Amino acid sequence: MSDKSLKVVLLGCGSVGSQVVRLLTEQAADLEARVGARIELAGVAVRRLDAAREVEVPAGLLTTDAAGLVARGDIDLVIEVIGGLEPARSLILSALENGASVVTANKALLAEDGPRLFEAAAKAERDLYYEAAVAGAIPIVRPLRESLAGDRVTRVMGIVNGTTNFILDKMDSSGAGFSEALEEAQELGYAEADPTADVEGFDAAAKAAILASLAFHSRVTAADVHREGISEVTAADVASAREMGAVVKLLAIAELREDRVAVRVHPAMIPRSHPLASVRGAYNAVFVESQAAGQLMFYGPGAGGSPTASAILGDLVTVARNRLSNTTGAGESAYADRAVQPMGETHTRYHVAIDVEDRAGVLSAVAQAFAEHEVSIQTVRQEGRGADAQLVVVSHRATDAQLAATVEQLRTMEIVREVTSVMRVEGESE
Ligand SMILES: NC(=O)c1ccc[n+]([C@@H]2O[C@H](COP(=O)([O-])OP(=O)(O)OC[C@H]3O[C@@H](n4cnc5c(N)ncnc54)[C@H](OP(=O)(O)O)[C@@H]3O)[C@@H](O)[C@H]2O)c1
Repeated sequence: MSDKSLKVVLLGCGSVGSQVVRLLTEQAADLEARVGARIELAGVAVRRLDAAREVEVPAGLLTTDAAGLVARGDIDLVIEVIGGLEPARSLILSALENGASVVTANKALLAEDGPRLFEAAAKAERDLYYEAAVAGAIPIVRPLRESLAGDRVTRVMGIVNGTTNFILDKMDSSGAGFSEALEEAQELGYAEADPTADVEGFDAAAKAAILASLAFHSRVTAADVHREGISEVTAADVASAREMGAVVKLLAIAELREDRVAVRVHPAMIPRSHPLASVRGAYNAVFVESQAAGQLMFYGPGAGGSPTASAILGDLVTVARNRLSNTTGAGESAYADRAVQPMGETHTRYHVAIDVEDRAGVLSAVAQAFAEHEVSIQTVRQEGRGADAQLVVVSHRATDAQLAATVEQLRTMEIVREVTSVMRVEGESE
């Protein structure tokens, strides 16, 4: 037994918080040995004292006074798992001001207001750790912040939202439409009753901002991320991807382009041979490309109370050790101060499906529209459908602006009945 102890306060005891309490209790002896001090749970703040909990919280620890808890002045470590912007932000700032180090899983807050929190941590000479904020249990913050700190990361591409990956995987494996797959995800507990944050890409965009900031040593917030969700992805898009040996995934992509940072979240087709294509169900993965190390992939459960609590406890051990040795770990690294590239300048390949009249000259007229905007065509597939036909065009790399202008022109053409689908194609070497 160690004669030292560190006081820990937990803010929030829901899906994640309850598993943090469980691990703190079950692994108390190991944690003490690893840290070199006893980790003493000094308080658990919740909204409702009488709510049913997945774990038994030791008597007398539950309180609704989160602000009072973090301002006590004798707290060494605060774990924030309330989520959302407020009161989480004020509580974290208060915890730091009152001398505690902070571990949080709050991606929404970090992506919105990270710089302010990191500045507060630096000023207070305390740690602010957040491994659990991106891709749950998967170690990705630490690899980017520490293991790859001597390398030059050029691209991070991730499947960082389990709900959308489950839905797209279902659409791919069963031919289901979006609504049907979403319903199944909700029945199985993979999607919330209000699935907006997941299916419209807000959750992935927050994680993309955090990943981009870490990878490119710059401040990137959620507002810098181009975001498109998956609610418009159709069974036909998924089938079309399959025909070209690809699969549709919601990707969070952060790239270094001419010393600017390009960050986006959108559905895209990737070849089935790409490592990210094999990420099934609600799993997450982050694929990192760097100059010296080459390609790395980090894979695992991206959510869930217990996996997320594992990442939190990992941070807790590091932060606790730092407290004991009166030091802090790596803080924010934003020295590069890179600008964000506008989405219109982003280069990628595109898959465009167009319903056209089935008559002579249509193909060349469509090809002409692409050529006018300097979008060169890699392949065209044509299927006849009575008086109509469908053309599926896959382009070489072009900018988003060039492609948008091409599609706009196609929509005005008499021979074009409808542009039925426009989707980016990612994951092939440039
Ligand atoms: N769930 C996951 O799989 C997962 C994965 C990665 C990251 N995260 C992140 O982890 C955080 C927590 O997520 P969660 O799923 O555990 O959420 P949750 O189940 O909704 O739990 C939230 C907890 O916060 C408490 N709370 C809410 N408002 C409060 C207030 N004003 N003062 C004190 N306590 C308050 C709630 O109290 P009551 O219980 O009394 O209502 C509840 O215990 C979020 O930032 C989330 O993004 C979650």
